[in-house]
Amino acid sequence: MAFLEIVIVTSLALWLIYKWLTIRDDEFKKRNIPYEKPYPVLGNFGNVVMNKKSATKTIVEFYKRNKMHKIVGFFNFRNPVFFINEPELIKKITVKDFDHFPNHTPFINVDGDPLLAGMLNIMKDQRWKDMRNTLTPVFTAAKMRNMFPLMNECFNECIKNLKMQLPNGSCELEMKQFMTKLSNDIIASTAFGISTNSYEDPNNQFYNVGQSITRFRGTQMFKFMISNVAPWILKYLGMKIFDKEKTDYFTRLVIDAMKYREKNNIVRHDMIQLLLEAKKDSAQHWSDEEIVAQCFIFFFAAFENNANLICATSHELMSNPDVQQRLYEECLEIKEELQEQPLSYDIANKMKYMDMVLNETLRKWSIAALTDRVCSKDYKLTDEEDNLVFEFKVGDRVWFPISGLHMDEQHFENPEEYIPERFSDDNKGNIKPFTFIPFGAGPRNCIGNRYALMQAKAMLYYLVINCKLERSENTVKDIFDDMRGFNVSPRGGFWIRFVSRN
Ligand code: HEM
Ligand SMILES: *[C@@H]1O[C@H](CO)[C@@H](O)[C@H](O)[C@H]1NC(C)=O
Ligand SMILES: *[C@@H]1O[C@H](CO)[C@@H](O)[C@H](O)[C@H]1NC(C)=O
Repeated sequence: MAFLEIVIVTSLALWLIYKWLTIRDDEFKKRNIPYEKPYPVLGNFGNVVMNKKSATKTIVEFYKRNKMHKIVGFFNFRNPVFFINEPELIKKITVKDFDHFPNHTPFINVDGDPLLAGMLNIMKDQRWKDMRNTLTPVFTAAKMRNMFPLMNECFNECIKNLKMQLPNGSCELEMKQFMTKLSNDIIASTAFGISTNSYEDPNNQFYNVGQSITRFRGTQMFKFMISNVAPWILKYLGMKIFDKEKTDYFTRLVIDAMKYREKNNIVRHDMIQLLLEAKKDSAQHWSDEEIVAQCFIFFFAAFENNANLICATSHELMSNPDVQQRLYEECLEIKEELQEQPLSYDIANKMKYMDMVLNETLRKWSIAALTDRVCSKDYKLTDEEDNLVFEFKVGDRVWFPISGLHMDEQHFENPEEYIPERFSDDNKGNIKPFTFIPFGAGPRNCIGNRYALMQAKAMLYYLVINCKLERSENTVKDIFDDMRGFNVSPRGGFWIRFVSRN
């Protein structure tokens, strides 16, 4: 009898484990949507977790194999998501019928962590709308203009450090490390109100804590994966994705700065200041924690992305000397116009070719490989002729393959080539709407795009005006092939030789 029981219990347990391991494979079958056979547990991201490929490459290849379908099924670990390949449908979901898809799916499990749950990208529905309205004034051109001098201090420190390495006329640098320091100092100054100099003091606390939080490798990657596959494990173990001491460090910085400023009437044109003002002006009574949460997401969104954008552009300038030369000539004109005055927001924005160059980097490199929405009201998706395409149900997740669209030869001829001319006045009208969406689309798009572009334009101006960017012996040959995980960054780094122009 006992033996029979053991057999029954064991088979039942095995069956349950099997059921859990095998992904909700029939989800797409039932809904009549094509999909590719997933790995158990890891889904269609198997190659990313096993460190064989980057997420970007995985998405681009998946898109290319499946772009004949308007909608195709993809397993994000165990969760089924609907890939929307057709630009017109992306427009419908992100703009016209935004009401049915107002939220992102949290990229991490935020249960029981108010700091993470309060971040703008995680917030939902009305609460999101209120916070977004509170934050929108923080990112206007006028506010960016005021913030620019704070950034300029950081650029100057960066260039000073570069020049120190140039006594012999040239030096080799790993750009990612070099630009991460800049990214760090700028975010510390403009978002957290503290001044750091990561070039002179590479071991400052802000830098170390930031680095350990943004590295989605090792244990961090593992916890991230668990939170996707089985969030209850983390909960059961009482673990959080980010160590409490680290999040506490950032929280204290912001709260202390806010208190100090209110008490001493100090005005500094940074985000803490703007958030304090926004907090006063808005009808909502945002708590300190909710404000801190926004600094936190700005940190996440800015830290890697901004450094990657500058690194990728530098790499392309190095690989395309004619593009670099043309950009240099534009920078020279600006330099003459400035006549020793410091660079400003408006002047940085006047550089037309620079804008084309950055757009081309955003296209070819898609700093964000994809973005998502989740359905909050049942929705019948129809095409231009009003034919029913698909019925979405509450809870369905949709993904937009940003990197896939950007690398589609139907939308961009010779997509592997770096051609800023695609964005010239003559050509940019030919770009099909919703095929170029580096910052997403609709009311839920990236709130920080101005900030990101401002930083990148100014930094590239300083680099190009001072140095010629050349290949070095350490430059990785195939950068795309060398990337891993969810970072747009090659394992071998971004090596560049800087040759002084003066
Ligand atoms: C090259 C740099 C950047 C890229 C490529 C980028 C890209 C994106 C994308 C694709 C989204 C999702 C949009 C959508 O789903 O439609 C997003 C959202 C967001 N980004 Fe950025 N971003 C960048 C820099 C920044 C910076 C510097 C900040 C803040 C200072 C920022 C703050 C945010 C926030 C808060 C959201 C969520 C918005 C919401 O849910 O309402 N981003 N970003
Ligand atoms: C410059 O050249 C000298 C002599 O060749 C060398 O000793 C020194 O290390 C070089 N400096 C840098 C920063 O590369
Ligand atoms: C670059 O792209 C942005 C949208 O991300 C657009 O507003 C801007 O006009 C583009 N610039 C050029 C020169 O096409």
